[in-house]
Amino acid sequence: MRCLLEGVLFYFGEDVTVDDIAFDDTLREGATAEIFGERNDHRAMEIVRCEGVTKVYGVGDTQVTAVDDVSLAIEKGEFAAIIGPSGSGKSTLLHLIGAVDRSSEGSIQLDGQEITGMSATQTALLRRRKVGMIYQFYNLIPTLTVKENILLPLRLDKRKEDSALLSQITDVLRITTLMDRLPGQLSGGQQQRVAIARALLYRPAVLLADEPTGNLDQQQSDEIIELFGQANREFEQTILLVTHNEPLARRADRILRMKDGRMDT
Ligand SMILES: Nc1ncnc2c1ncn2[C@@H]1O[C@H](COP(=O)(O)OP(=O)(O)OP(=O)(O)O)[C@@H](O)[C@H]1O
Ligand SMILES: [Mg+2]
Repeated sequence: MRCLLEGVLFYFGEDVTVDDIAFDDTLREGATAEIFGERNDHRAMEIVRCEGVTKVYGVGDTQVTAVDDVSLAIEKGEFAAIIGPSGSGKSTLLHLIGAVDRSSEGSIQLDGQEITGMSATQTALLRRRKVGMIYQFYNLIPTLTVKENILLPLRLDKRKEDSALLSQITDVLRITTLMDRLPGQLSGGQQQRVAIARALLYRPAVLLADEPTGNLDQQQSDEIIELFGQANREFEQTILLVTHNEPLARRADRILRMKDGRMDT
């Protein structure tokens, strides 16, 4: 449990305390350029750019090249899917793009900002500001209600929610009546829909989803992918979806295929 909590708080940048965020004006919206450096305007429409990205785990005989010299670009408003066999490096690549893990080599730009070489504080803020991450296991905080879980990233940023958008998202996800429950009082599919609501409400620059329908039945999977499509069309939400499911992947604008750490082009 402690490990799960730490993981969630790490993801949302809790190595930056809420007090830091409240009192340091340089951390406010609009001042991010001061922290992250100026945007690279030549590629302003690219939300993700990877060049020669490699991730090696371990040393010596146990060394594994999980991601091997991958280059790709995802444009603003694009819905792309990554498909590939188990162990081909899909999750590792998603974690590198989401600044959850660091690459061994190569360059990764997220919304115009180079993330390789950033400090831990910078990556924590970047994750919260720019990335919505959805996992197969839902990463909800068990002691917070559904509503508190959904609002957590905004609250950490001292931002007020768009209540019309919150109602719209919770209606579509059919979780409106569950808002006061704790995650432990929900089914797996319901917990996943809460995790998706949390990511969508923040309107991240990119939504990274790792097998988000892995634990759901066919009907729920279809609904979730339909919702991704809707967020993509209606809010120009940029989405990078990892899935084993070829029919689901075909709902994306583009399919990227990984094998042995490499991206087929
Ligand atoms: N923390 C780690 N330490 C060592 N090796 C790792 C680590 N994480 C992943 N790997 C290895 O890197 C390779 C890629 O793993 P990854 O989880 O990215 O694959 P995947 O495509 O997401 O697979 P799946 O479809 O089963 O989720 C695998 O060989 C895996 O064993
Ligand atoms: Mg995986």
